[in-house]
Amino acid sequence: MAAIDLYNPDTYVLGAPHDEFTRLRREDPVHWQDIPGQAGYWAVLKHADVVHVSRNPNLFCCEAGGVVLEDMDPERLSRMRDMLLSMDPPRHISYRKPLAPEFARRVIAGMESQIREITVDIFSAVGDNSDVEFVHDMVGPLPTQVIGQLFGLPEKDWEWLHRLSQMNTSGQDPDLNPDGDLSEAGSADSSMQMAMYGMAFAKERRAVAPQGDLMDVILGQEFNGRFLTDADIGSLLVQMITAGNDTTVTMMAGGLWALLEHPTQLQMLRDDASLLPGAVEEILRWFNPLHYFRRTASEDTEISGTKIAKGDKVAMYYTSANRDEAVFEDSQAFDITRSPNPQLSFGIGEHFCLGVHLARLEGRIFFEELLRRFGKIELSGTPERVRSNLNNGVKRLPVNLSL
Ligand code: HEM
Repeated sequence: MAAIDLYNPDTYVLGAPHDEFTRLRREDPVHWQDIPGQAGYWAVLKHADVVHVSRNPNLFCCEAGGVVLEDMDPERLSRMRDMLLSMDPPRHISYRKPLAPEFARRVIAGMESQIREITVDIFSAVGDNSDVEFVHDMVGPLPTQVIGQLFGLPEKDWEWLHRLSQMNTSGQDPDLNPDGDLSEAGSADSSMQMAMYGMAFAKERRAVAPQGDLMDVILGQEFNGRFLTDADIGSLLVQMITAGNDTTVTMMAGGLWALLEHPTQLQMLRDDASLLPGAVEEILRWFNPLHYFRRTASEDTEISGTKIAKGDKVAMYYTSANRDEAVFEDSQAFDITRSPNPQLSFGIGEHFCLGVHLARLEGRIFFEELLRRFGKIELSGTPERVRSNLNNGVKRLPVNLSL
């Protein structure tokens, strides 16, 4: 079998290797991949197998090695273990439970007018007939502003936090991490800076009256039987800002790119806005923001007949599972009317994305406002992707917008 290197970030620069994923799903769906200089991993490529790994957090755990593929030094691993995304049961649920009501669909729905206002302000600032770099000018600022408002973070810090969060997930791209170690999916330095910022912010907030935002909840609630320290809050903030930032940017930029490549579907959306929620789901399936998350086998087991040894790294490839022909009819076709659409871009099971309702709401409002305002949107240059084996991001999307 010709070798495809699923680990090498260069593999993804011109787009995810969908033809290779298709072949591997057929011939070698639990595929061994080497990593230079450290232990390799099992790439799990079929939808059913990704669901199996996700739904068995005791068998495929997070805390042993974190959720990205690279080995971490003990200090970084221990910081990682204190993030919700990397916790195992039962500790995981005791941290997730107090946060979950704040992210419930009904509560998030209350942010609709706030998010619409932020979106319209960003669009108004670029003018009515303009050439823009869509990722930077139209999309980048939005999720940071939404998360900034949710947590009550000072506005002056939003831009800087956005840049740090990009480095947290795109450390392998020389443009986004010019001085860092390009061998790792995330930059240790940027997450450390963000954690320090979060600690200082927590300290400041303890000294003032409640502000009516999510930070009040975090400061006032017990997690796992105790109140969070400033350091705990620092790491929670890193997680929240990072989780909700580049992912949402990819959904929006990748979504527009997909629509521009499928003009008939774009026209259908313009003609009937009620198709938008389904279109957002299809965009997420088609342009899933994260290629994979990792687990570690906590005992010897099997995945679809392939033997997995205790301690092996296992990567759940959402990018492949979302195109699995066993689940999606005509899986390589972009179809905004697809129903049902059990895409796995938000994961599934124990760690299912906490921000799912926020992301969907931001997606719907963003495309509603974009299509309402701009009657004509055209590519005006060559789009570029982020160099990363983790983040399926868009780095540049030059477009011309007119009324
Ligand atoms: C399109 C946007 C987004 C995508 C594609 C996405 C994707 C994901 C995925 C794949 C996971 C892990 C699932 C797993 O390990 O099984 C996750 C977890 C998480 N996401 Fe999102 N996410 C998005 C937006 C957001 C937003 C806006 C927030 C919040 C502000 C957020 C907060 C979280 C948190 C806190 C977790 C950890 C949950 C846990 O471990 O219990 N995400 N997300």
